[in-house]
Amino acid sequence: MNDRPLLQLALDVLDLDTATRVTQQTYSAIDVIEVGTLLCLSEGMHAVRALRDAFAEATIVADVRIVRAGKNIAEMAFDAGANWVTVVGEAPIETLGAALEVAYKHGGEIQVELHEGWTHHEAIHWRDMGIRQIILHSGVEVDPVGGEWSTQAMDTICELADIGFRVTATGGISAHSISAFEEVPVSIFIAGRAIAQAENPLAEAQAFQDAIEATYV
Ligand code: 5RP
Ligand code: MG
Repeated sequence: MNDRPLLQLALDVLDLDTATRVTQQTYSAIDVIEVGTLLCLSEGMHAVRALRDAFAEATIVADVRIVRAGKNIAEMAFDAGANWVTVVGEAPIETLGAALEVAYKHGGEIQVELHEGWTHHEAIHWRDMGIRQIILHSGVEVDPVGGEWSTQAMDTICELADIGFRVTATGGISAHSISAFEEVPVSIFIAGRAIAQAENPLAEAQAFQDAIEATYV
């Protein structure tokens, strides 16, 4: 069976104080910290740097969604302390390659967010370039929390894992969503609003871990 999936907290908030508070509250129950796209835009790489300083041992993703300027943007994120950086699947192959080269230099990885119209052939090419992680977002915009994942999306995760990728699933996932992924080889579940907006973020993060344990272990 699949290794136990990790839980990634997406900090899709606008200010560093809130991001730091939610991370402190939940740190004991999460595996990966995501500096969300909104936080990267509102606070810049300062947010990545500050979270790296505060959580020295954490795995930190900068969800900067690179589409061009792969080298320069990846340098900014890795220099600030990110371990992983996101690139959109629509990015030109040269951009993916440039970001990947910077990742290698820093001992990090890039995560490619799958785009509409991706092909199996393209995914094989990414793998052969050295890309190890793919993000599958259930929709193209903000999904309702607790919404159902389609069979097609589940099949896509299986296909990508068969090719050899570690696959991250995201988009409206709640603790109650996890059991539907039984037998689906997800490597990382991302939760944003379900944890950050919960009355008790730590209890919610723990509920995710319990659901992961019950589904995968
Ligand atoms: C959206 C994102 C979010 O960070 C991620 O999908 C988590 O969001 P939520 O769990 O709140 O749906 O990158 O594109
Ligand atoms: Mg995100």
